[in-house]
Amino acid sequence: MTDALPPDHTPSGASTGAGNAAAPTEVRVMFDRIANRYDLMNLLISAFQEPRWRRLLVERAGLRPGDAALDVASGTGKVAADLQDRVAPFGRVLGVDLSPGMIAVARDRYTDRVGLEYVVGDALALPTEDATFDAATIAFGMRNLPDYRRGFEEMTRSVRPGGRVLCLEIARPRSRLARFMRWWFDRIVPVIGRLAGQGAAYGYLVRSVQAYPSPERIAEIMAEAGLVDVRWQGLTGGIVTLHEGTVPER
Ligand SMILES: C[S@@+](CC[C@H](N)C(=O)[O-])C[C@H]1O[C@@H](n2cnc3c(N)ncnc32)[C@H](O)[C@@H]1O
Repeated sequence: MTDALPPDHTPSGASTGAGNAAAPTEVRVMFDRIANRYDLMNLLISAFQEPRWRRLLVERAGLRPGDAALDVASGTGKVAADLQDRVAPFGRVLGVDLSPGMIAVARDRYTDRVGLEYVVGDALALPTEDATFDAATIAFGMRNLPDYRRGFEEMTRSVRPGGRVLCLEIARPRSRLARFMRWWFDRIVPVIGRLAGQGAAYGYLVRSVQAYPSPERIAEIMAEAGLVDVRWQGLTGGIVTLHEGTVPER
């Protein structure tokens, strides 16, 4: 598998739905810039919750030794590496991310793992064959895509009938804890970002979360993308949602 760095993505064919307003080039450059500090910043802005959320995502993928898994918008590679722990010793995991900087961190970190590969690629035109994976995951990546439905369609296309598609994403819930977290997100996260010298990136983070659809709408988009048995649950008072769907038998 070779890296295929795409140009700015302009969805071809039918318009497939709403998405992040930022240009993919802008998103890619921004993640390239923060790649080396990303993991630490993530821990801080999630108040140390994100390892727990990721563990649940990986568990729910339902993988077994020998399976194949795809992690989209794989970033610094942690979810893909955890998936690979599940499918080892003979299974394989592919991580795909738009940012060469993020992919470089992932490759460097997991250089000795057999069956774990990271490639540069676009979630809206995945470098994958149809129906080749047992599960596909995306963690904190969907809200960055310019077309959410196309993102789910590509994951659905890549997974075999009966396989699972899972999406972990920051939400805008209504509970009291969530209101606090919303304030944390809107007011404090940009300050943390500025203190870390990454103000633009964390301003973007807040905007992308504000623009992301409700969990109910995301479930509808997944169904429109062809998934069945779509369900979702809020984690930590609904700050984050985990959506799951199944690729139908054809
Ligand atoms: C918030 S990070 C999440 C990274 C990782 N999944 C995690 O859980 O830490 C979002 C990632 O989405 C990637 N991304 C943004 N747009 C993308 C696209 N169109 N295709 C693939 N990856 C994309 C970024 O480069 C970035 O690494």
